[in-house]
Amino acid sequence: MVAPVEVIAPKVQSAIAEALGEEYRDVDPVLRPSQFADVQVNAALALAKKAGVKPRDLAAKIVEHLDLSAECEDVEVSGPGFLNLTFKNEWVSSLVGDLAGDDRLGVPVEQRQNIPIDYSAPNVAKEMHVGHLRTTIVGDCLARTLEHLGHHVIRQNHVGDWGTPFGMLVEHLLEVGEDSAEAHLVQTDPNAFYQAARGKFDGSPDFATRARARVVKLQAGDPETLRLWGRLYDLSKSYFNTVYSTLGVTLTDDDLAGESTYNDALPGICADLEDKGIATVDDGALVVFLDGFTGRDDRPVPLFIRKSDGGYGYGTTDMATVKHRVETLEADRILYVIGVTQSLHLQMVYETARRAGYLPESVEVEHIKIGSVLGEDRKILKTRSGAPLRLMFLLDEAVQHARAYVDRARPELSEDTRADLARQVGIGAVKYADLSVAHDSDYVFDLDRMLALTGNTGPYLQYAAARIRSIFRGTETIPAPDASAITITEPAERDLALRLLDFGSMVAQVGAVYEPHRLCTYLFELAQSFSGFYENCPVLKAESEEVKNSRLALCALTLQVMVTGLDLLGIEAPEQM
Ligand code: ARG
Repeated sequence: MVAPVEVIAPKVQSAIAEALGEEYRDVDPVLRPSQFADVQVNAALALAKKAGVKPRDLAAKIVEHLDLSAECEDVEVSGPGFLNLTFKNEWVSSLVGDLAGDDRLGVPVEQRQNIPIDYSAPNVAKEMHVGHLRTTIVGDCLARTLEHLGHHVIRQNHVGDWGTPFGMLVEHLLEVGEDSAEAHLVQTDPNAFYQAARGKFDGSPDFATRARARVVKLQAGDPETLRLWGRLYDLSKSYFNTVYSTLGVTLTDDDLAGESTYNDALPGICADLEDKGIATVDDGALVVFLDGFTGRDDRPVPLFIRKSDGGYGYGTTDMATVKHRVETLEADRILYVIGVTQSLHLQMVYETARRAGYLPESVEVEHIKIGSVLGEDRKILKTRSGAPLRLMFLLDEAVQHARAYVDRARPELSEDTRADLARQVGIGAVKYADLSVAHDSDYVFDLDRMLALTGNTGPYLQYAAARIRSIFRGTETIPAPDASAITITEPAERDLALRLLDFGSMVAQVGAVYEPHRLCTYLFELAQSFSGFYENCPVLKAESEEVKNSRLALCALTLQVMVTGLDLLGIEAPEQM
């Protein structure tokens, strides 16, 4: 299954080679969207200078060698030397027919790669905050998309489960009792547990001393301490899983690969980096200095490998993640979906790993930078008291808002149906709002805007899908689009058809550049094209049975693309709205 430009591009390339010579065979024919036609070819403008021909003359020469009689009704040289191509309706009809017969809806199956994706990564016995919301949602969308493109995605949830805070957390757990209500806060309100431990640590020197001693025991592998730590871990796991299932995120316990899993690898990495002369001892600490990484006053910024007290830092564990992902997981590409503020850290990790030979040039590594979620004051979203906002609270609020809407709009539905619909719409709205902005920019968390039924929102797309479903109401299941039935005649049908044909390359693009917002924009435009089609082209009351069947097939195909696209975003498409 191919999009129109994929058919046109090689033909234009051949015509260029015939017009200018074989050395031009592989040039980019520069196909672009056009206001005046279906596609515009800019090759003549791009190549004229090099070829020593006037652009318009070159365009005419390309046309002489270009046979698009099966595809285009018009090939016109225009302006300074563009080619405007207008497709034949029959050709568009046959391509959409092929699309309807393709159960992948035009999405290619790519050469299978191993792709570990590091995402979500909340911290044990700590609240998941809105920053984790974004890495979770964006990472999950990329995981789904790359999997759909045929790759072997290996989800890596790099939870923060190690380090000095665990001394105080374990000590607090011991004091309140493992089975106490306070302990169970880790499962329901981890922030409360964390703050209580913190309070003791700051308020009682005695507790602080015990907490410090506890860290030493933890690092020495004292069995009882490890058991208590494991208890915290389990309670946290169940909290994470509540959030993941509320969000409809694909992460499971099998994907947990927290900081602690790398403990055994750290001393070896330190020794190796030191042996290779990459890390040096500076003020008692083992550090790496890299050219070009300087901070204020042009002072070089170190990557800490081992602190002066012998402890390992975040940099060391991340070196271990790279090594593990390359050597054990046999990664072809590695994605880190992490806050934009960690950009320098990751660049230093990658660079050090390249030098140490842990990360061969053949393995691509990418930091998917995640921006912040802001409150109405345009500062990082917090509660009024300044505490970090509980993620579950936000999600509950979104569902409640959606529930109020559902109760008003669909009072006749049963209690259960309304509750489920509110969940789908509320969560869908939050996820879509997150995915529809560029992942590295900030956005304001505004439930009213997220839940709006108009504009580029999750509920708008869910509604569009539900409306198409309603066309088929009364039939048991949505019929598979009838490939042979589709005949495009009206401009609105054509517009919709051309959009549908873009789906496959759009999904491939998201998998290549890691930008879910492109898929959102695509689906939004598809919904708008569908609206235009539905307003202008009667379906059930079409003038003939043939036209009706053709339009029904377009409706079914649009629904399939919409539902598949939403699913790649991790958003449910309700049966009705
Ligand atoms: N746990 C960290 C945090 O909450 C994020 C870890 C990101 N992943 C990584 N490989 N460094 O900020």
